[in-house]
Formats: sequence, structure tokens, C-alpha cells
Amino acid sequence: MPENLAILNCSQVVTLAGAKRARTGGDLRQLSIIEDGAMFVRGDRIEAVGRRREIESLITGDCEVVDARQRVVMPGFVDAHTHPVFAGIRANEFEQRSSGATYREIAARGGGIRSTVRATRNASLNDLVKTGQRYGRWFLRCGTTTIEAKSGYGLTIEDELKILRAIKQLNEETPLRYVPTFLGAHDIPSEYKSRRATYISLVINEMLPRVVEEKLAEYCDVFCETDVFTTDESWEILSAARCHGLGLRVHADQLTLSGGAKLAAELNAATADHLEHTDATGITALKMAKVQPVLLPGSVYALGSRQYPPAREMIDAGLAIVLATDFNPGSSPTPSMPMVLSLACTQMKMTPAETITAATINAAYSLGRGDEIGSLERGKRADFVIHNCEDYRELAYFFGVEHASLVYTSGQLAFSRNVSEARP
Ligand code: NIG
Ligand code: FE
Repeated sequence: MPENLAILNCSQVVTLAGAKRARTGGDLRQLSIIEDGAMFVRGDRIEAVGRRREIESLITGDCEVVDARQRVVMPGFVDAHTHPVFAGIRANEFEQRSSGATYREIAARGGGIRSTVRATRNASLNDLVKTGQRYGRWFLRCGTTTIEAKSGYGLTIEDELKILRAIKQLNEETPLRYVPTFLGAHDIPSEYKSRRATYISLVINEMLPRVVEEKLAEYCDVFCETDVFTTDESWEILSAARCHGLGLRVHADQLTLSGGAKLAAELNAATADHLEHTDATGITALKMAKVQPVLLPGSVYALGSRQYPPAREMIDAGLAIVLATDFNPGSSPTPSMPMVLSLACTQMKMTPAETITAATINAAYSLGRGDEIGSLERGKRADFVIHNCEDYRELAYFFGVEHASLVYTSGQLAFSRNVSEARP
């Protein structure tokens, strides 16, 4: 297999080149597009991005040449919030919600996260890797090359470790890149219902040290929410995680205004995620503490809610906004970043360009990988996608379509769509 790769004849190379930081304000709309561009990849890294002439001059005998046939080339999506390792599905709850039941009502009767926990506890590591591979292929075929992956469906030491080991194995054995997050505080398991403090001390004193000792997570997350973990409990868990050297992410203000955004700011978390109910005070707190908001419109849509997070207010306040799928079996069963971009444009009034920045370079910075992925620039990993369209705005405009035609991670082909679906 040739070491070098030249991608020629691109209608647009959407590079996202720019300042080495997460983008805010007007910079969210600057995609640094090279019209009629090309790219040269050496091994697993991008060597050059530019006009066709410049790139052609680098081509030597051992170089594979890919004709993009006037299609869009851009960085792989970086999906900064997913729950991709679980057993079973919850189509029954989806059906109940379609008849009027709410997510919280279903959870209160023992369904929701707890039902996936029961199934996941009964699954082996191998079972979880197998289903994880299937979902991993879904991400790739949507044009996603890196995902943040949370545990949180085990809620015992061994079951949380099992999920994180499955994530590690998936990262090592498949072309999709995984960034692991420990979410032992995703719910209070039913056997600890009347002993909350005991479960929290299990998370802090037993789970966290094991997770860190085995180097199974880079981040720690907590579901800070009314009826789940209070802000005080979340503070305790996240502070302990920080002492262990983990970065922090928080499920904040998703179903109610429960103080999650303010907590994320107090703790200088990397991200505060969801934020459907966050108010102006919460937004100001995130801005002061430079916390990145991770917005998840797929979960709002799938729960049949109309309360999308206030993206425009956040952009106006100068926040470095991120978009992600929240892929999980309950509130957001979609791996599709293009679907999320579409929802962000139609429901949250973000422009197509802003959504692309939020789903690539900003997401990369939120995962501490802004120097490595999220844009097409010399020296970065060659994680890129040829989409089957001429203009990047089509990704959100033609919704429900799988646009990704060829997906590369580290310069290697990770997914290729049947040519019969290609543009004429
Ligand atoms: O991000 N909010 C908590 N966690 C997930 C839902 C998980 C589930 O329902 O299984 C979320 O929406
Ligand atoms: Fe989530």
C-alpha cells in the first residue's frame, strides 16, 4: 500500500485552518475554504493543503491519487459527547413516548438508564465490543472520525471497568478514534436508592482510583440533574476526579435548571453539556470560566421536546460552542452529525458554517486534541472525509442523507460508500 496520498479535484477543501484555539463569535463562520483545492498526505499526517498545482508538484511514483470528482473534502467530524457502549435497545420506551409518556416518567418507573444498566450488566466484554463495533461503523459512515465515549451503564466497579475496557479495545482495534470518559455517576443504581451517599463514596473511593490506575479514562462526567445527582454531590465527585488528574465534563441543565452550568464554571470544567434550561446567569458563568458548551439537539428532537438550548445567546456571549450527537439508547439514538447540523440550523438558528466549526475544530479543542485533529492543516492527523456534495452547506440542507463517500483516519481508508450512490 502506498505511503502517500494525493486528493485532487475537490470542489471545496474546507480546512478550518486558523488560530490555534477554539473559535468564538465571527470566527465560527470562517471555514478557510480552498475552492478547487487539493491535499497531500504522507503516512498518517497531512503534509500540504492548497491549490491543485502545488499539490501535484509533490506527487511521486509511490503516491496513490484519489480524484475527488468535484466533491467536498473536510475534516472528519469530532463527536464530543456519546454513550456508545451498552447492551439492548429501548424502542419500547420510544413507543411509550410517542403515546405521550415523558422521559422522566419512564425513568421514575424503573425504565430509562436503569433498564440499559440491567442489560449491560448481563453482557460480557466481548458482547459489548461486538455491538460497539456495529455502532462504530455507523459513526464512520456518517463522516465521524473521533468520538468521546462515556461509560455509565454499569454502575458497579466491575461493570464500569468492563465498559471502559470495551472502549479501549474498540479504540485499539477499529479505525474510529475514541476518547474515554468515566461516567460512574450517570444514575444512582436501584440497589443504592435509599443509600445515595454510599454509592457516591463507592464512585469516589473505589471506582475512580481503579479507572485512573488502569488509565481507562481521560475525563470524568456526572449527570447533574433534579432526581439524579445534586450539585453538591456532583461537586464532590468531580473534585475528586480532578485530584486524580482527569478533565471534567458535566451533563448540565438538561431537563431542569438545576445549577449544572454554574457548577461546571466553578470547577473550570472543559465542557458543560446539554444546557437546554440554562439561563443568562449560567451563560455568563460559562463565559467567565471559559467552559465550552456542548449542545445536543438530537436528544431534544428524539425526546419530542421543543426546548432547544439557546445557541445564539451563547454565541453572542462569546462561547466556543460545540455540537455533538449524544448517541445513546434512550434520549438520542442517532450517530449522525449531519442530522445534528441540520437541527442546529433549523431549530437553533446557527448558520451552516457555524455548525461545521462546532462539529470539528471546536469539538477537538473541547477534548484536548485541538493540535492533533479537527482541521486540515500541515502536521495534523489525516482524518478527513470526501462528502458526496459540491458545497459544504448541502450537509445540513439535504437532511436524512448519508453524504460521506470516503472516510479516512490516519491516512487509511476507514469507510467507502458504494460508488452507485456517488454524484454523477
Ligand atoms: O445524555 N442525560 C443523561 N444521559 C443521557 C441519556 C442516557 C439514556 O437515556 O440512556 C443523555 O441524554
Ligand atoms: Fe449524554
